[in-house]
Amino acid sequence: MGKDLLGEVYSPSDFRHQGHQLIDKLADHLEESLKGENSKVIDWKIPVEEHKFWKRFFKEGDPDDFLERMLEHTIHIHHPKYMGHQISPAAPITGLSGLLSAFMNNGMGIYEMGAAPTAMERVVTDMLCSTVGYPEGANGFLTSGGTLANLTALLSARKNKASHDVWNEGTKTNLAVMVSEEAHYCIDRAVRIMGLGENGIIKIPTNADFSIRTDKLEEAYQQAKENGLEVFAIVGSAPATATGIHDNLESLARFAQENGLWFHVDAAHGGGAFFSEKYKHLLSGAAMSDSVVIDGHKMMMMPGITTALLFRDGTNSHTTFRQKADYLLEASREEDWYNLAKRTFECTKHMMSLHWYMLLKQYGPVIFDTFVSTLYDLGHQFADLIDQHPDFELAVRPMTNILCFRYRDKNHDEEALNRINQKIRQQILEEGTFYIVQTKLRGKHYLRTTIMNPFTTAEHFRGLLENIKQKAEQLSPRN
Ligand SMILES: Cc1ncc(COP(=O)(O)O)c(C=O)c1O
Repeated sequence: MGKDLLGEVYSPSDFRHQGHQLIDKLADHLEESLKGENSKVIDWKIPVEEHKFWKRFFKEGDPDDFLERMLEHTIHIHHPKYMGHQISPAAPITGLSGLLSAFMNNGMGIYEMGAAPTAMERVVTDMLCSTVGYPEGANGFLTSGGTLANLTALLSARKNKASHDVWNEGTKTNLAVMVSEEAHYCIDRAVRIMGLGENGIIKIPTNADFSIRTDKLEEAYQQAKENGLEVFAIVGSAPATATGIHDNLESLARFAQENGLWFHVDAAHGGGAFFSEKYKHLLSGAAMSDSVVIDGHKMMMMPGITTALLFRDGTNSHTTFRQKADYLLEASREEDWYNLAKRTFECTKHMMSLHWYMLLKQYGPVIFDTFVSTLYDLGHQFADLIDQHPDFELAVRPMTNILCFRYRDKNHDEEALNRINQKIRQQILEEGTFYIVQTKLRGKHYLRTTIMNPFTTAEHFRGLLENIKQKAEQLSPRN
């Protein structure tokens, strides 16, 4: 009986059959989503209802219906009216690399548990290092997401710059990191995980355009020293999540150099632009950093999650974690780049290098240039439409594909406008024709879009603005 069941679970012919069905279904879904005509981006339900549905399906649902229901009940990232969070519409080939990774399930912690993907990881990260502009001797690895990569980079920074060996001795001084107040919250979280507490993160105010105020760095640094803090790193956002605005990385690099600080660049979103002829200038100064983070699952067409963490001096990628796990790791003086668990936070990780390697092998690096440049161009096109529209205003002229804007009406005060924009976003979510998100900047409620689909057009932008306008007029009829 048990053997029969296991035989069924591992049946090659069932797998072949189900696999073909799945790919056929996903190809149909892709075709339908990309057309973006009648289908919704999201069929939103309140969590209690969604839970009820899947609880019932678990008991009574027909397994043959599973995929259809799953597709109906999930958000469609490949839809051109998806303009929400910074998640890639995965290139279909990376759906296949994802399947390959899940199925082959190499553990990746030590070399023999992932020989090919480990070597591919080296090929890909070496290429990324040279694209960033790092010198000979740079290297890095892939890890599970920007949050973990930023934490890992700050651990490396601390190991390298702190006045004592925190890893072995614990924290003896009040260590701190400087960063823009607009940085992604994972930097704040990393600092707290590292035990540095609230005082360990020095938030620098921003300019009118939401980029870090580099004229405030010196003052903040001196103040920190007077307060007994030992600053060991400064972080630049490339760009900041909420606004898509890049910090001035050249100024940050110079400041870090002058003060002997580690300079880390969080290019989780914007790192794909290293490949863009048109937009790589936004990252100017990043080549002077000590470390940089680039998410594959944001602007590089890959599924979640895969992040490159790159180090200007490759030896720093070997020293972050001094943990001994001798049963896994060779006792070798030579830095064994190929035993990845020694260098990354994870022990087991998925074979994420397959996504990068297969995309690059199939289409070449130009694919990243094309994708990023197309999306940033679309961001600017949408900004022009908003600018020209009398009923909307931008929070700031975008640098990338992230835009914050709001409906405005001079008959309403700020409080009413906040309420109206908030309601508009909720109605859009519940309607499901478009998907956008929201953010609060300096007390004002903005609608936020990230143009993630290269097949989104000006027609879709106009449709969205019209849709919002209609909602706004219903919420606040004009006399
Ligand atoms: C600038 C920035 N850094 C870090 C992160 C976190 O990355 P992840 O979601 O891969 O953990 C994000 C996510 O939006 C981000 O925009």
